[in-house]
Amino acid sequence: MKRALKMMLAVSMAFALLFGAANIAPAWAASKTVKTTKITLSQTKTIKLKVGEKVTLKATVKPKNSTQKVKWSTSDKKVATVSAKGVVKAIGKGTATITAKSGSKKASVKVKVSAGKAPGGKTLVAYFSCTGTTRGVAKKLAKVTGADLYEIVPAEPYTDEDLDYGDDSTRATWEQNHPETRPKLGGKALRLKGYTTLYLGYPIWWGMAPRIMCTFVERYSFTGITVIPFCTSGSSGIGDSGDELARLAGTGTWLKGARHSGSISEKELRAWVEGLR
Ligand SMILES: Cc1cc2nc3c(=O)[nH]c(=O)nc-3n(C[C@H](O)[C@H](O)[C@H](O)COP(=O)(O)O)c2cc1C
Repeated sequence: MKRALKMMLAVSMAFALLFGAANIAPAWAASKTVKTTKITLSQTKTIKLKVGEKVTLKATVKPKNSTQKVKWSTSDKKVATVSAKGVVKAIGKGTATITAKSGSKKASVKVKVSAGKAPGGKTLVAYFSCTGTTRGVAKKLAKVTGADLYEIVPAEPYTDEDLDYGDDSTRATWEQNHPETRPKLGGKALRLKGYTTLYLGYPIWWGMAPRIMCTFVERYSFTGITVIPFCTSGSSGIGDSGDELARLAGTGTWLKGARHSGSISEKELRAWVEGLR
């Protein structure tokens, strides 16, 4: 009995030395917390939804390596719910505040829900294309969805030299390197009245939407419209380009969107469109 007591004492002293006196923390306690210093949402202006509609919000935290997870909440579940991934669903008439919290930092946006689903409004495919790839996809998409087609035309057309991305000083690359640039729109002004769905197409330039797309989304109001971005590219994905356009637009219900190959078939496009519902 005495021996057993001595043994227990020795073991507990060893533990005390290892984790207490010697101040060595077990491995699981050693991971370091990186605190969030800022959190922003992909939409800042009041989001208008009809019962049953959904919108995906994106929360961006700084620093990027913050270890504090983003937690979503709603002020009124009877008006709008929000999933762990930021998907907001309109439940009933009223106004709710959706909040994303990371550590002690918060960002919120209001959601105003009105009754009833939008009556089958019209669909529009609006696109910008310099070398025809996005135009080709846009035309097939318009055919598949029975949509109208609108081309986003620059006031000053892009020449082959402007598009030469092998040279940093050429126009397109210069514009992408200057985020504040807003190339002027040409062509006929767009009338969005009556449209409830907008497919918005563009090529990827240096991983982003061309700056003229910023001019476009800042010019028009997308309230009451579901906007679905799509792009074509050499190989890059859509990345954050749609989220960035949604942020600049500040209105509309923006879906994630997708990158399509220039050779996508009508059948493949139909499957994509059906998957969005
Ligand atoms: C200035 C410039 C930058 C580009 N940057 C990218 C890129 O970052 N990633 C990519 O995969 N393709 C890139 N491309 C290729 C275009 O995205 C691709 O050719 C696109 O399908 C062209 O569309 P369009 O014919 O409708 O203009 C770039 C093209 C240009 C002109």
